[in-house]
Amino acid sequence: MSFDKNQFEGILKDFTIDSDELKTIAADFRYDLKKGLKDPAESSLKMLKSYIGLPTRQEKGEYLALDFGGTNVRVLLIRLEGDGKFEVLRKVAKPLVVPGSYNYIAADATAEQMFDFIAGLVEEAVEGDHAKQYFLGHTFSFPSSQTNLYNAKLITWTKEFATPGVEGEVVNDLLKAALHRKGLDNVEPTAVINDTVAVQLAAAYKHDNVNIGCIYATGHNTCYLEPFADKAEQPMILNLESGGFNRLAPGRFDVALDERSEKPGEQRLEKMVSGRYMGELFGMALAELLGEAGKEYGFTSIDMSAIMEDESEDCAAIRALVAKKTGRDIAAADASLVQDLVLRIVNRSARLVAASFVGILWQLEGEGIEQPQTIAVDGSVYEKMPHAKENLEKGLSELLGADAAKVETVLENGGSGLGAAIAAAVSQN
Ligand code: GLC
Repeated sequence: MSFDKNQFEGILKDFTIDSDELKTIAADFRYDLKKGLKDPAESSLKMLKSYIGLPTRQEKGEYLALDFGGTNVRVLLIRLEGDGKFEVLRKVAKPLVVPGSYNYIAADATAEQMFDFIAGLVEEAVEGDHAKQYFLGHTFSFPSSQTNLYNAKLITWTKEFATPGVEGEVVNDLLKAALHRKGLDNVEPTAVINDTVAVQLAAAYKHDNVNIGCIYATGHNTCYLEPFADKAEQPMILNLESGGFNRLAPGRFDVALDERSEKPGEQRLEKMVSGRYMGELFGMALAELLGEAGKEYGFTSIDMSAIMEDESEDCAAIRALVAKKTGRDIAAADASLVQDLVLRIVNRSARLVAASFVGILWQLEGEGIEQPQTIAVDGSVYEKMPHAKENLEKGLSELLGADAAKVETVLENGGSGLGAAIAAAVSQN
């Protein structure tokens, strides 16, 4: 069998965003930003206050950093040396899930178990020291509503987390109680930030003009420094929870994926762009091409990277991967179409992210970009997926024209840890 050409073209079109549509999405993102600044209830962007601005770069000292945002939790002891310099003195990391052994993110786990496990990691990071005082910054990468830098309540779990007893709670209180149960009253959690905020803080510790921070990985989200030009408040980073942006025209695969997801109707942008969902979108489209619509093959974004990396004439790697995942042998010509499909899905993802950045830049700068702008990005899609960064930058150029020369994106690798340490330092100022 070989793919039906019309069907293939139709599917490609489903994943295509032309220039005009892209401009509309950027303008709509800006519109939601403006609405959200007045009243977040009116916007699909949550506009969550972080109660922190950019670092002075004079932050110094040793701080604990807890990076809790996915299944792998890390605790680091970091020494900040000022002017972008720092040293990671210690690092421990453990997964919250080990299949067949334990699972702290499932609906039958408890908040106590989860935070006791995390407190255990902190204990390792301080090498069992129950005396010396440590301040701890906590990167908690879930939507949280804050009243100050310490006090963040989880609004709702995202990603695959389902542990009861955390939603609606002050996460640092749960952590503090767990530290207390371990006799670690010498460790004081003082700040909570989202991972996007952490990336922005970490990048701003090293570079100028960092007004936007973004995670482009398994999940997707963006924050920016709101200057509050009307002086209503001090400049402050706002976590947009932009994965929830919904002024989009989802294609039929997006609609189907959303309907079968854990939280239908939510995280619509994230479901179109992030690593967690791209593999699934690709699998749904491929199932149609193979005449078995609805079948799930479990493709991941890592598989998509492998497909894009196959430059051979006979597409041997692509064919082997498709055979392994679907049990079907496809011809080289079809394998090359599979590669086109993957490229299109990744390209669409990168263009959507670019449109959201431009929406923020238009909000900050008006239609013409005057100031140089550095956008800090961390995450596996941006860092590792072939063509993601390049298409993101092309999308920026398409939307900004010559002004795109004033905008650069930089990889802020590991920003979640460094950002948490900076937040802990800022909390002591
Ligand atoms: C999800 C979370 C968000 C986080 C992002 C990246 O979208 O809701 O808070 O920033 O994933 O980890």
